[in-house]
Amino acid sequence: MSISNADFVIAWKNVLEQCQLKPGEQVAILTSDDSNMQIVECARIATGLLGGVLTMINLPAINGDKALSRDKSGYVGKTPLAFNTAALAGLKAADLVIDTMQLLFSHEQEEILKTGTRMLLAVEPPETMLRMIPSPEAKNKVIAANKYMEPAKEMTVTSKAGTDFRCSLGQYPVLLQYGLADEPGRWDHWPSCMIARWPDEGSAEGVIVIDEGDILLPFKRYAADKVILTIEKGFVTKIEGGWTAEYMKSFMDSFNDPDAYAMAHVGWGLESRASWTTLGLYDREAALSMDARCFEGNFLFSTGPNTEAGGSRDTPCHMDIPLRGCSLSLDGVPMTKDGVVVHD
Ligand SMILES: [Fe+2]
Repeated sequence: MSISNADFVIAWKNVLEQCQLKPGEQVAILTSDDSNMQIVECARIATGLLGGVLTMINLPAINGDKALSRDKSGYVGKTPLAFNTAALAGLKAADLVIDTMQLLFSHEQEEILKTGTRMLLAVEPPETMLRMIPSPEAKNKVIAANKYMEPAKEMTVTSKAGTDFRCSLGQYPVLLQYGLADEPGRWDHWPSCMIARWPDEGSAEGVIVIDEGDILLPFKRYAADKVILTIEKGFVTKIEGGWTAEYMKSFMDSFNDPDAYAMAHVGWGLESRASWTTLGLYDREAALSMDARCFEGNFLFSTGPNTEAGGSRDTPCHMDIPLRGCSLSLDGVPMTKDGVVVHD
């Protein structure tokens, strides 16, 4: 169901306050041809109400002819900023960037963040954003999880479906997502509540079983049947199963890029307001489905790029796959058990 502009402006004001927006700060709202205009308008009004100095930066959409769908996560190659030095300079000069275009997975985003600019991605449907408005409680959950993640040396994941996976940790920083860009140089995505990390290069090993009913993104489909992934030295080396496995393999092969098969971020969802079921209620191009990525107790693993973590693998093929019913441990300490969060 849609939401009113009044409710959404109040929500934006709340979130921008939590993002430490102060009067006189420079705020750039980044838009493109497919930005959600309710998001843009309500963010613009809230910025004005809080005394932010607003600049609108609109960039043309690119990659439409290369991507296999309109999904912003379905093709994560170069963004328009790769060619636009004027816009890049403007975004670097801002204190806070509200990104309604989706710069994720780009070197330019890293460059902007390095200048201390805070960046908040806002591309989910407004009603989803309102349902999962970032809060101090949600932030605390992610910070609490990081007490285990930050010092961890090894992650292991098992499931009754047959998953038996392990990887070493420490080479790459932790990705803490709680929906607020509230510190200099911090990127986040409203709505979010999850923790993740990239495995040390070459360390991911074992078997991951995507069970019937688990979610494959960006396909935005529930797996019709089991998919068995073999992982060796950090790469998916075998994809076995029925129709779903064949589809997944065919999609990944279509990029003609060995890096598409690299293991990317691994972690777990912490959002009690997110639901495994939401995906089934939406048209496939209507949302990124942060519900699927964040629902509490999932094991979210992914394949492809590591540029977000400061690595050099910038393949445009990125899959996010949240599994139910997994037991995830860090250095032998259980974080989730059979799909339920068990750490404090
Ligand atoms: Fe991802």
